[in-house]
Amino acid sequence: MELMQRVFFTALSALTVCYALIKFSLGYWKRRGILHEKPKFLWGNIKGVVSGKRHISEALHTIYESYKGRAPFVGCYALLKPYILVLDLKLAQQILVSHAGHFTSRGLYNNVDLEPLSGNLLQLDGHKWRSLHAQSSQVFTNSNIQKLLPRLLQLSRQLQFRLGEQKLQGLNISKLVNGYNTDVIAALAYGLLGEEPQFNQLTHCYWQNFSLWRNYLALEFPLLARLFQHRSYEPSVMDYFHKLALTQLDQQRRRDRQPLQTFLQLYTQAELRETQIAAQAFSFILAGLSPLNATLSFCLYELALQPELQERLRTEINKVLGQHKGELTAECLQDLIYAKQTLKETLRLHTPYAFLIRRTTKDFEVAKSVFMLARGNNIVIPVAAIHRDPSIYADPLRFDPDRFNPSAELNRSAMSFLPFGAGLRGCIAQQFAEKQLLIGLVNLLQHHKYAPCAETQIPLQYDTRKLLLVPKVDIQLSVERVSC
Ligand code: HEM
Repeated sequence: MELMQRVFFTALSALTVCYALIKFSLGYWKRRGILHEKPKFLWGNIKGVVSGKRHISEALHTIYESYKGRAPFVGCYALLKPYILVLDLKLAQQILVSHAGHFTSRGLYNNVDLEPLSGNLLQLDGHKWRSLHAQSSQVFTNSNIQKLLPRLLQLSRQLQFRLGEQKLQGLNISKLVNGYNTDVIAALAYGLLGEEPQFNQLTHCYWQNFSLWRNYLALEFPLLARLFQHRSYEPSVMDYFHKLALTQLDQQRRRDRQPLQTFLQLYTQAELRETQIAAQAFSFILAGLSPLNATLSFCLYELALQPELQERLRTEINKVLGQHKGELTAECLQDLIYAKQTLKETLRLHTPYAFLIRRTTKDFEVAKSVFMLARGNNIVIPVAAIHRDPSIYADPLRFDPDRFNPSAELNRSAMSFLPFGAGLRGCIAQQFAEKQLLIGLVNLLQHHKYAPCAETQIPLQYDTRKLLLVPKVDIQLSVERVSC
């Protein structure tokens, strides 16, 4: 009996301590006297997100809509972790660009000793990020990307080959564009020359046991995650990508005086160590594959629903190609104005990275406010909500590439369009990704026409179990070859 009592009182005390700690954590903004969204016990302001009932972008949108115009930022909580949600584009500009030196961290979990490939730019912070970023910036220069263009063009021709002559009622567009983007990553990031079925298969498996729950917990309690040796990725798959990069680097060393064909060569020239290169090659899969796939699939979906826009775009493609002797050169890509507008509009309406995060690394005084962003504060910029703000984009749910014609763009703040982030920690591969998307789109549309079919999900839904904004089910469309 005495033992039972002891157990009961110990459990009660533990629960009381937990309750008090949770209440204390969720009282952070109140104690600082900062305007905030009232948190729910344990969940903060993201109830339904970790269980996959709603996407994080929806939760952020709701807060943004409720508070916009009332203050430059509002406090909120992701589970127990306090975040500052930015409401004002001027503040976003300071955080991302003009005062980026105060916000150089993201605060994502990484464990390089346990998972060497987590030593990529996206996940690293502090001095490790800083020196890697300085070296990697030499890789993604305009001139290097131009040099890789011929190989990219060569790979993109496979798309037309795969589409072929047939008329198809239900073509899986998501699979088709995944084939193209995976081929590009296999060839340019890993230097693979031919088909490598295992590579294609494993690019889907690195998050095989991905659990929103476990990853949110690792983000909330990085010290505990480290103590319990939390792994973000499937170990056998990580092992494959790590070894593959090392093997390819070894083969590259044996070949003398190769023309520039891969990012592996560029990383080697930038003097990264082998494991660092393996981690950066992996970041093409980690940071690039899903948003590239989603953007091309969403784009064809929108064009299938609006045949007149699709026709206008195809006409531009054929006209511009005609002016460049049918060759997709760097100059030709520059002239594809409407195609670029269409991709931008896709990234606005269906923003794969629906939010950006930063951690304050030095105290920062917010202009026209008595409050300060204190060192260690976590910040979220709700990009998808900004992209759908009716005071910035009228009738925001309508897909209209003309929103990005040059004069319309001039009238908006640069911070109103952030699909690649911005500033010091913006997407390092933006220029390359934009080329990959544009070249892919030209090859998809030049000789083929798309329309909805019985299998097309309209309206499309997002996968609420993923961190990025991607379609819930594969996008399927009917496709037909057209003569130009
Ligand atoms: C449509 C395609 C892509 C989109 C929409 C996209 C978007 C983004 C965004 C929003 C960020 C965070 C920026 C910030 O916090 O300000 C980011 C970071 C990053 N992206 Fe991309 N990305 C794409 C493709 C790629 C590709 C192909 C790579 C290949 C290497 C890549 C590599 C990275 C890396 C390494 C970072 C972290 C940069 C740093 O923190 O220094 N991304 N990307």
